Amino acid sequence: MHPWFRTLTEEVRDRRLDVEGTVPAWLDGALVRNGPAHFETAAGRVNHWFDGLAMLRRFGFADGEVRYTNRFLRTAAYRSRVNGDVATTEFGTGPTSLLRRVGSLLMPTATDNANVTVARVAGRHVALTETPRMVAFDPERLVTFGERTFDDDLPGQWTAAHLERDRERAEQVGLTLRFGRESSYHVYRLPDGARSRTEIARIPVAEPAYVHSIGLTDRYAVVPAVPFTADPRRFLSPGVESFVDAFRWDGDRGTRFHLVDRADGSVETVTGPPFFFFHTVNAFERDGAAGREVVVDLVAFADASVVRALAFDRVEQGIRRATGELRRYRLPVGGGRVTSRPIADDVALPRTAPTVRRRPYRYAYAQRTGDGAATGLVKVDVTDGSETVWREHDCFAGEPVFVPRADASDDDGGDGRDGAGDERATEDDGVVLSVVLNRDRERSFLLVLDARTFGAEARAWLPHALPLGFHGEYLR
Ligand SMILES: [Fe+2]
Repeated sequence: MHPWFRTLTEEVRDRRLDVEGTVPAWLDGALVRNGPAHFETAAGRVNHWFDGLAMLRRFGFADGEVRYTNRFLRTAAYRSRVNGDVATTEFGTGPTSLLRRVGSLLMPTATDNANVTVARVAGRHVALTETPRMVAFDPERLVTFGERTFDDDLPGQWTAAHLERDRERAEQVGLTLRFGRESSYHVYRLPDGARSRTEIARIPVAEPAYVHSIGLTDRYAVVPAVPFTADPRRFLSPGVESFVDAFRWDGDRGTRFHLVDRADGSVETVTGPPFFFFHTVNAFERDGAAGREVVVDLVAFADASVVRALAFDRVEQGIRRATGELRRYRLPVGGGRVTSRPIADDVALPRTAPTVRRRPYRYAYAQRTGDGAATGLVKVDVTDGSETVWREHDCFAGEPVFVPRADASDDDGGDGRDGAGDERATEDDGVVLSVVLNRDRERSFLLVLDARTFGAEARAWLPHALPLGFHGEYLR
């Protein structure tokens, strides 16, 4: 098994890492990341890479030094897993007994294995996944505080793992999915620091689509409902052991883009060709030749086969197929034809500078996939498709996180904007951080790239090989 998918049990606290090169002295925050790191149960390996137990990883920067802490989230899933059982319904690994399976219909026992990302929600740092269960932690020591709940009754057994933060309006916008006799999407806002979400719109749907992230513009929340959908009755069907088993691909449906007006909750829907995606990159509105339009950039796949390709029986091949196309969709406001154009091929885990959220922008940072021997990093100029690539032999890079040099002292690490002068000029003035695995040495290092040139400024070696993580945030 590739060391990217091998269980790591060692936990390290506040260890100073050996640094090659020079870490910029202005870098004085911390990169906190999340991802699966433990893949075994008493019954064997979990079925799907997404079901590994959440491990938080922290890289603290001060005076050119890098200090490293990694720690499993202490959750119910962690306790039951180390006791040798899968007691909760996870992404691709389910309870094995029929009673448990029926008991987990619509997932009242949904997992608290929050292994996807981290964010500041309702005034706390939390780990998030696609179930509504979020887990609060201490961002310094990575100690688990416990489950954090919202103080509202917004329905939904499933959520988009990614919230979109709008710093100007001091709120986050997110999505829940309710499966039932009457299923629906619920787009909500969460004012910064509040524990109570407010529903912006409820969109009824017979078979909800898998939605991992949404787009956000100043006016709209954009929900791309791809044709990978679940009939809620299917959760009871034989052979449906886990969440993902209930979903089916039906390309004939096309993709329905719901444009939710953030002010009044009205919903417009335009339909385009079928595709699958996990991640939006950015979104904004503008006046196009045919009138007002919403632009949504995302990483698209031809279909949803990537989901099952990341199951463990084929994950090493699957990671090679988990290679999407950075694509720009133009959605006409008031109706019309959805159009798209490719910007870059072979990318995953896209990010932008926090300053360009909801604005026309120039640079996307992403993992460069599609090369069976390694994954690199790429900076894509979305205005002309030109690329700058970092790669090294036998090195596997994870999600790149851009950190602007400009002081954004009031930014808490969400997708906020720092309000600094010319926002686009700051898009690549800073560094890109990524955790890279050197397969030959079986050790990982934190890579610091100059965001402008993509030249390596420094690397800080970890004491072990860190399994591939999903997402992280830079906390100031
Ligand atoms: Fe994600």
